[in-house]
Amino acid sequence: MVSAAGVLVAPVPAAPLPAAGRAAAEEVPAPGPLPGAVPGPVPGIVKPLPADWFVPRGTNAETRWDAFRDADGRAVVHRHVPVERFFVRNHTSTPLIDPGTWRLRLFGSGLRGAPTAGRPVEFGLDDLRELPSTRISALIECAGNARSYYPGQQNQPVPGTPWTLGGVGSASWRGVRLAEVLRAAGLTGAAVDVLPTGLDPDFVAGGTNYGPVRRPLPIAKALDDVLLAYEMNGEPLTPDHGAPARLVVPGWVGIASIKWVGSVEVADHRLYSPWNTDFYRMFGPDYPPGGGDPLTEQVVKSAFELAAGARLAAGREHRLHGRSWSGAAAVRRVEVSADGGRTWRRAELRDEPRADGWTRWSVDWRPERPGRYELRARATDRRGNTQPERAVFNREGYLFGAVVAHPVTVV
Ligand code: MTE
Repeated sequence: MVSAAGVLVAPVPAAPLPAAGRAAAEEVPAPGPLPGAVPGPVPGIVKPLPADWFVPRGTNAETRWDAFRDADGRAVVHRHVPVERFFVRNHTSTPLIDPGTWRLRLFGSGLRGAPTAGRPVEFGLDDLRELPSTRISALIECAGNARSYYPGQQNQPVPGTPWTLGGVGSASWRGVRLAEVLRAAGLTGAAVDVLPTGLDPDFVAGGTNYGPVRRPLPIAKALDDVLLAYEMNGEPLTPDHGAPARLVVPGWVGIASIKWVGSVEVADHRLYSPWNTDFYRMFGPDYPPGGGDPLTEQVVKSAFELAAGARLAAGREHRLHGRSWSGAAAVRRVEVSADGGRTWRRAELRDEPRADGWTRWSVDWRPERPGRYELRARATDRRGNTQPERAVFNREGYLFGAVVAHPVTVV
């Protein structure tokens, strides 16, 4: 827990609550803290969260961009973010699920014979491993990533987790294509939507119980490139990232990539949950009165692999590193400004631009005079989407894609 002043205050270790109405037998309560163990800074997240890798944010942990490089400026995060440094976004807390008894349950009117939730088609982890496996690279990025710049740069207060740019990570994922699982379960041509539901505790906010985290996906996306992953970076999924199995929905807002999937409803009609009606839609003066469509693709963003307020020596050449990414297409051009956006220089791309990941880049900068500077990076993807000067406001502060001013001090 972090106080308003940013000071660490006594964290309370939280055991996951039993999930009402769901197969409790599958869930093993989180163990209490070991005697003498120091409780983590985010109760409900299992892995250690060292302060030099993460910023705790409520139930979440944001990856620090300066943790991508060591003190000598050498890369410690390469194309993929190691699991132990990967950001965590939990609505509640990480459940510990026994992979031996876990079952994926599929039901609904879009499957042959319309199996019911009470008599679903079931797959164990071993069954999934017997289906043809696929490995993909994909970014997971929270829809609220960079939210803090609505108030910080645009003077527009928004509620919710005040992420800077560290609510994103790239990984390699192995699993079985959701299309394969749906077909094995008896998918029919009538299917319209699929609704994966997580086994984490119900999400309760403002006195309302919204039930388990779940969000419908249109069947076209489900059959296109969605993976039901059981490995991340070559190892079985860890509890915080969705063990034993999670969805990975490439290019889309992170909420689509449901962790700890317990069931998937397949329906011959549109499905709804608070996650595609109340949350993860755009509301505000520039959106239709009832709100925009449920969020899908992520916007273009860029980040420097540097702490905010980093100190750099005057009169020396510095190689600045960063990454840019987009949910729509590969990033093909990055420009950097060190003078508040007056002049821009092309950054050198360090990756062949690819749609399934970020493009790493670097630029050399020699600041002659001490003082405060603002660095900016602006990326363009292959569809021609470029980061704007300002993001269009929405009430919840989603999809901040504008150029971010990164302060540094030259000494
Ligand atoms: N799935 C469940 N069951 N519960 C959650 O809280 N959070 C979602 C998504 N899947 C969430 C979930 C959100 S908002 C994001 S951004 C990603 O998981 C984060 O994945 P990560 O924690 O592995 O980085």
